[in-house]
Amino acid sequence: SFVPVITIDGPSASGKGTVAQRVAAALGFHYLDSGALYRLTALAAERRGLRWRDELEVAQLAGDLDVVFDGAAVLLEGDNVTEAIRSETVGIGASIVAALPAVRSALLARQHAFAEVPGLVADGRDMGSVVFPDARLKVFLTASAEARAERRCKQLSAAGEQPDLAAITADLESRDERDRSRAVAPLQQWPDALLLDTTNMGIDEAVEQVLRWWKDVL
Ligand code: C5P
Repeated sequence: SFVPVITIDGPSASGKGTVAQRVAAALGFHYLDSGALYRLTALAAERRGLRWRDELEVAQLAGDLDVVFDGAAVLLEGDNVTEAIRSETVGIGASIVAALPAVRSALLARQHAFAEVPGLVADGRDMGSVVFPDARLKVFLTASAEARAERRCKQLSAAGEQPDLAAITADLESRDERDRSRAVAPLQQWPDALLLDTTNMGIDEAVEQVLRWWKDVL
């Protein structure tokens, strides 16, 4: 059962999701947005009235999540939550539930199931380190904190929110700090990942670089 996997890990709002989707489309591969699973878990917990730090209850919820990925749409218990899971609050909740080891293990099998022929592009924080350690190509995609805060603001404006750059920068920093410092599956550039710094790079250029690397490893 050999399925080629490309992992793209990196901090929030680095553009890794867009790049990963474009690379997947170019190669005809499946795409896993692992952050969406943590976001869905946080949203589901909120809807059940659970606290994000209640490890056992939230882990059980994560294991039983009734989720459907339908193209670009995400359904939670049949309810379209595509936009709801993108809010800043849910992003913060995601990084809180993501620090709980039982939640991470509850989501492992679900992530592995995305690795199907002809291949998978997976984006997140621990795709290359924990979830798909045997991936053929591992990329660490990042950008300066400033560039990332500006990108997140643009995203939120496009989604009809009215973002405040200073507040977004502070959110990103605290979220990154939580992701880097947690004991389980911390965000970091592992030695076997290739660094792609997109601070001064457009999406097209980033996609082309990943596709060139992919050709090289084949
Ligand atoms: O990538 P995104 O911003 O959607 O991820 C939301 C949160 O989910 C991250 O801040 C991180 O805490 C968590 N996450 C994770 N591991 C992943 C993907 C996301 O811990 N593989």
